[in-house]
Amino acid sequence: MKKLLPIALCCAFLSHAFAADPIKSRQQVFEQYKQTVGSMGKMVNGDTAFDKEMFAKLAAHMDELAQQPWQYFTPGSDKGKTEARPEIWSKPAEFKDATDKHKAAVAKLKTAAASAGSVDDVKAPFGAMQQTCKACHNQFRAD
Ligand code: HEC
Repeated sequence: MKKLLPIALCCAFLSHAFAADPIKSRQQVFEQYKQTVGSMGKMVNGDTAFDKEMFAKLAAHMDELAQQPWQYFTPGSDKGKTEARPEIWSKPAEFKDATDKHKAAVAKLKTAAASAGSVDDVKAPFGAMQQTCKACHNQFRAD
């Protein structure tokens, strides 16, 4: 028991630190989105060679990331250094719909990537996923 206490304290502190700044927390996840999608995009566009193992890993990572930002759109976090539009809080059903569509598109990309023979097998699901980023940004992110 004695050994467990510092770990429990540490984790309680960490989760508190994250909860304390939901705006930063969600922006950090979106920064990881950008990197992950950027690496996949280079392969899809032919800027770098298509490495199917790597692509499948990136798509699986994307699927993990896609579960994360939404919990940080907490009540009150519409104020501050944020590009989040007030509609996120005034139209929660629409926002949830946008996150659900996005998560579904990411899941499809992950499945396609896991069995992809060539880059052609991931082009359409990658494009479809990017559409869900744009759709949500148009509606819920200030430019
Ligand atoms: C369901 C809505 C939604 C989806 C889907 C979505 N985003 Fe966003 N995104 C937002 C909102 C809202 C913000 C503004 C967050 C803030 O400033 O508090 C944002 C911010 C960002 C940022 C800026 C982060 C920063 O440092 O301030 C990047 C980059 C980004 N999104 C990339 C993406 C990419 C890439 C995808 C698709 C793979 C995506 N987003 C999908 C809603 C979404």
